[in-house]
Amino acid sequence: MTSIAQNLSEILGNAFEGQGLPFDLGLVRVSDRPDLAQFQCNGAMSAAKLAKKNPREVAQGIVDALSNEGIFSSIEIAGPGFINLNVTDAYLTHYLSELENLGIKSTSETRQIVLDYGGPNVAKALHVGHLRSAVIGSTVRNILKLKGYNVLGDIHLGDWGTQMGMLIGDYLREGESDLISNANPQNPDDVKNIMTDFTVRYPKSSNAAKADKELMQEARDITVKLQNKEEPYFGLWQKIRDISLADMKVTYDRLNVTFDLWKGEADVNEYIAPMVADFKAKQIAYISEGALVVDVQTNEDTKKIPPLMLTKSDGAALYSTTDIATIIERVKLYDLARIVYIVDQRQSLHFEQVFRASRKGDVVDDNVELTHAGFGTMNGPDGTPFKTRTGGVMPLKDFIDLAVEKAQARLAEVNLAADIDADERDDIANKVAIAAIKFADLQNPRQSDYIFDMDRMMSFEGKTGPYLLYQAVRINSLLKKVQGDDFEGADILIEDADRALILLMGEFPDAVNLSLQHYAPHYLCEYLYRLAQAFSSFYGNVHILSEDNEALRHSRLLLCHKAHTYLSQGLDLLGIDIPERM
Ligand code: ARG
Repeated sequence: MTSIAQNLSEILGNAFEGQGLPFDLGLVRVSDRPDLAQFQCNGAMSAAKLAKKNPREVAQGIVDALSNEGIFSSIEIAGPGFINLNVTDAYLTHYLSELENLGIKSTSETRQIVLDYGGPNVAKALHVGHLRSAVIGSTVRNILKLKGYNVLGDIHLGDWGTQMGMLIGDYLREGESDLISNANPQNPDDVKNIMTDFTVRYPKSSNAAKADKELMQEARDITVKLQNKEEPYFGLWQKIRDISLADMKVTYDRLNVTFDLWKGEADVNEYIAPMVADFKAKQIAYISEGALVVDVQTNEDTKKIPPLMLTKSDGAALYSTTDIATIIERVKLYDLARIVYIVDQRQSLHFEQVFRASRKGDVVDDNVELTHAGFGTMNGPDGTPFKTRTGGVMPLKDFIDLAVEKAQARLAEVNLAADIDADERDDIANKVAIAAIKFADLQNPRQSDYIFDMDRMMSFEGKTGPYLLYQAVRINSLLKKVQGDDFEGADILIEDADRALILLMGEFPDAVNLSLQHYAPHYLCEYLYRLAQAFSSFYGNVHILSEDNEALRHSRLLLCHKAHTYLSQGLDLLGIDIPERM
């Protein structure tokens, strides 16, 4: 059993096939006119074109073939040939009772999937620009895991570029490299001090290099020496990386964002020289204006795709160099099915070049998929990328702190968690804040830009994380009241209000699959919001605890229990924790 629509698609697919028509035309989906029917199939229209028949006639053939299927309470042809379907209540209870894993089917794919989401630069602290990659990427990872895929989420740190040469150069020039040498990455105070130091030093060193040719040259020289693992550069670099990692881990943890691999650009250094030699030997790479480049333009292109820069004139590795070397490493280490990069869509040209050059250089087989799942920008209320009040880049940590503060205030405003002790209330505020941030982000189609509105997202009403948490907590506290009431094995009895809720449960696998297929968690968010709303009206419209008929009370309690399971499973995929109470 998967979703209800998928089960029905199977049945209608067979009916189409029985009429000599393609199975796929039997695709059934949830009706977009729930007032007319629960499900619909639009395949008769395409089938009619193929069979050169009238669509209503084709539809009639399907309806006749289905007349012996006991699971439909009604089948009707509407308009030009839509097939409208309702299922019996007996089918719905059967569906729920037979269901395993909430209808989530395991994959048969055993090859490795690598997800690349993150890519923070270790020369500075995480900022709001890193949010989307992390939350979308780890949701996709969680879904893949749930479906039994072998998946590895890799942070792919930005740790091997000129930014490192600039930063290290500045410490050395100022005679302040002891600050780094003496710092202990295990000591939170040291980490904090160094990260604060970066906020000033990194932009300072970067601006200085941009303004002064000699400084830029020095930064480049240091980068080359670093990439050759020369001291003191390499030792300083290691320390900087460790400190930065310690700091990031705290923030990613707060967001429930998980990585399986904490690798970086530097980890593939050993692959670079052989790769460059190989590209040269294959005569794919050539010198242009001092740099080593690879042409990636093809005759089919309608727009210009500039050559990929494989190394700079001084031999230094670039962003593209390490990305190709990383593909080489992944191919070597794993039996790869695909690599998916969940990275800002403004980098689409970069990935196009990297993928093309990798194919051209034969570093990856054609049966390995390379996908850039790009995302849009998170904007502030003014419609430009989210900033601090003074116009600076907002550190991700400060952004979360701000949300926690707002969550505390909002809880007080709506009088939630009022009589709960301070420690637990803090924990609740944290969970509300994370739910607000993540749900605000994940509910947007991946490629859309969106405006983050803290006030609206922290509301306990509307399409927000706090609303979902509130509904989940509400079900939970209802269920706590009936501990000992033995409803788990109850028969499901269906009246109108129950039916709507069950039909929605039957959509869960579709929402999960769509989110995976498009690397777009907004399908799951939309679904969870509808489920929370459906529960809310169920709760408001039917008797549950006050139902005198014991069989019906038990059935309703069981539905509440199931609704909670779906909600918490869905939120878990998004990496959103539900408080025990509030
Ligand atoms: N470090 C890059 C940046 O700051 C992002 C890395 C994304 N991942 C990748 N494999 N290129 O823009």
